[in-house]
Amino acid sequence: MENVRENIFPDEGILPRSVKEKFLKQNSRVIWFTGLSGAGKTTISKILERELFKMGFFCQILDGDNIRSGINNNLDFTEEGRQENIRRIAEVSKLYLNSGIITINSFITPTKELRDIPRSIIGKPDLIEVYINASLETCEERDTKGLYKKAREGKIKNFTGIDSPFVPPKNFELELKTDNSNAEECVKKALDYLIPILTLR
Ligand code: ADX
Repeated sequence: MENVRENIFPDEGILPRSVKEKFLKQNSRVIWFTGLSGAGKTTISKILERELFKMGFFCQILDGDNIRSGINNNLDFTEEGRQENIRRIAEVSKLYLNSGIITINSFITPTKELRDIPRSIIGKPDLIEVYINASLETCEERDTKGLYKKAREGKIKNFTGIDSPFVPPKNFELELKTDNSNAEECVKKALDYLIPILTLR
């Protein structure tokens, strides 16, 4: 088959990112939350978005609810399914990035191989990986969606932390420990780190 990509010019004529960032008065970034189900990714992302919005930053949240029920509703939780999930999210985030918008992504992204996908598609300094760190015991005890119980009963297969691996990240930019801190405390720490980066000077 002919290499069609050779004949595609993705960014030609599109207003540059810097113009859009200036319009939105912010530096766009991809803030990528990784961590176990139940660690607090979604909760923290929603408070963070509101706090940033109050300060004039324009964000878009991407997470399982709006991605796995829409664009990725044909993907499962096998290794291949997760890879394609993360690849598409990284590509979508890159489109947002180039339109000047900050994305806050909440995806388990359980292994180094998976976390390497946004690293290669987005890369530094645009990607800010944030480890939302809670122990499996804590997440299982919280069991906010009742999924750990189902996984233990064998009703869900390939569940992260139970019969599918979660390998803690090492190369994150920021770590928020949620075992003993509440979401507001974590958001405060995130804001202290993020505001200087997101502020356009
Ligand atoms: S990822 O591994 O590909 O990054 P993603 O973050 O999109 O996962 O989806 C995780 C969410 O899907 C969980 O919070 C949970 O609500 C739901 N889910 C359903 N089945 C599974 C499963 N087998 N493993 C993990 N999460 C699952």
